[in-house]
Amino acid sequence: MLIAVAGAGYVGLSSALAFAVSGHDVRVFDRDHARVDRLRRGEDPLAEPFVEELLGTFSDMTFTTDPRAAFRGVDAVAVAVGTPTTSRGEADISQLLIVADTVAREAPQCHVLIRSTVPVGTGDRLRREALRRFRVVANPEFLREGHAIEDALYPDRIVGGGDAEDEPLVRALYEQILEQRFPPRGALVPRTAHPRLLWMDRRSAELAKYAANAFLVTKLSFVNEIANVAAAVHADIRAVTEVLASDPRIGSAYLRPGIGWGGSCFPKDTRALVAFAAESGYEFTILRAAIEQNNKQLLRTYEELATELEGRVGVRIALLGLAFKAGTADCRDSRAIALAELFLTRGWEVHAFDPGVVSSPFVPPAVQVKRTAIEAADGADAVVIATEWPSFAALNLEELRRVMRGNLVYDGRCILEPDAVAAAGLRYRGVCPPIPND
Ligand code: UGA
Repeated sequence: MLIAVAGAGYVGLSSALAFAVSGHDVRVFDRDHARVDRLRRGEDPLAEPFVEELLGTFSDMTFTTDPRAAFRGVDAVAVAVGTPTTSRGEADISQLLIVADTVAREAPQCHVLIRSTVPVGTGDRLRREALRRFRVVANPEFLREGHAIEDALYPDRIVGGGDAEDEPLVRALYEQILEQRFPPRGALVPRTAHPRLLWMDRRSAELAKYAANAFLVTKLSFVNEIANVAAAVHADIRAVTEVLASDPRIGSAYLRPGIGWGGSCFPKDTRALVAFAAESGYEFTILRAAIEQNNKQLLRTYEELATELEGRVGVRIALLGLAFKAGTADCRDSRAIALAELFLTRGWEVHAFDPGVVSSPFVPPAVQVKRTAIEAADGADAVVIATEWPSFAALNLEELRRVMRGNLVYDGRCILEPDAVAAAGLRYRGVCPPIPND
């Protein structure tokens, strides 16, 4: 099939490359000229594993800012443009509406798959308005940044929402992924586990995407809350989460306590779900609480550090981590950056290091970005681990102790061994504190 993908972000680009791996001809449309130029040169604008090598493999793939060149004669369009948050917490679907108008103008009658995360009813609205001549299918994605290609080729499930007669096209489009029959590309080889196509109506598919993210954040806020209780009653949260993780009904993923969840999806999607539920007359109590807990979790870390460093003048913090999670350079809605902003507001100096981030428009200019963790820790009163990069778990603690001015290490991602920190002559504080001796 000939597929046009609108939007060359994480979702669009990984979908496009997965379609190409599956043997389809693919054109990618994006309004961002600089991004399109980079993609034409075979450069990965996202720093995602496998993207650059796949761009090399499919070097004849079309990247264009010209809607006519993108949509003319296609068999299907996949729309993967951003749906950011408005000031009222709702999803802003203006980019989607613009693309829908463009598709309506340029594309032949075909299927339009909505990969973007959109409020329930958006697909129906497009079907009634801009895309009247088209078959509109809700086809939300579930990929994680840092794993975008793997999650596109080896999804847990593929969700399709539309009329019964739309299902065959969607099944054909994803056939090689559903049956794991695509030709191997380096380390990307078909696997034995086959995902299922879960077919439903459009509105359910749209809600399912929000429900999945909302469930994951609720789990994370819950585990952070249990970690706080554990600290208060002198129980060991690591032991407690091990018990939770061993119950298949709970599942072992998303149980690591931390300073909170962030990124370009969780905060935006949870606020949007609360907003469109409220608009439909329903108050989503648990999700509101999960969001509130996430805000409090960050303040808790900040306040604990403020207490620990009370009375010190000219405080310098070594902030380890800037990205919203390990394995990505993305700093959008990063808890690490929110923490840096609180530190700066208090007048503290912040020296930061992140293995994936050299510069980012989201890093406040007052933050000094260093080239190594030790450089950031040099002369610091406290080291704060804010992103769960594995290299931070392997820090040379003796060297850290030698270069620091103070001796406080705050593990905001539960990745250090408190005993090892103490053995290096450092003071451990964090979201997973050990049980006090007496
Ligand atoms: C998330 C979802 O996991 C994807 O399934 C979804 O498709 C995507 O949003 C989206 O809506 O597009 P992503 O934003 O890449 O993916 O982030 P995650 O890997 O889920 O991590 C989110 C946050 O949770 C990070 O801040 C991370 O540090 C935190 N986290 C995760 C924890 O604090 N503890 C954990 O155990 C796991």
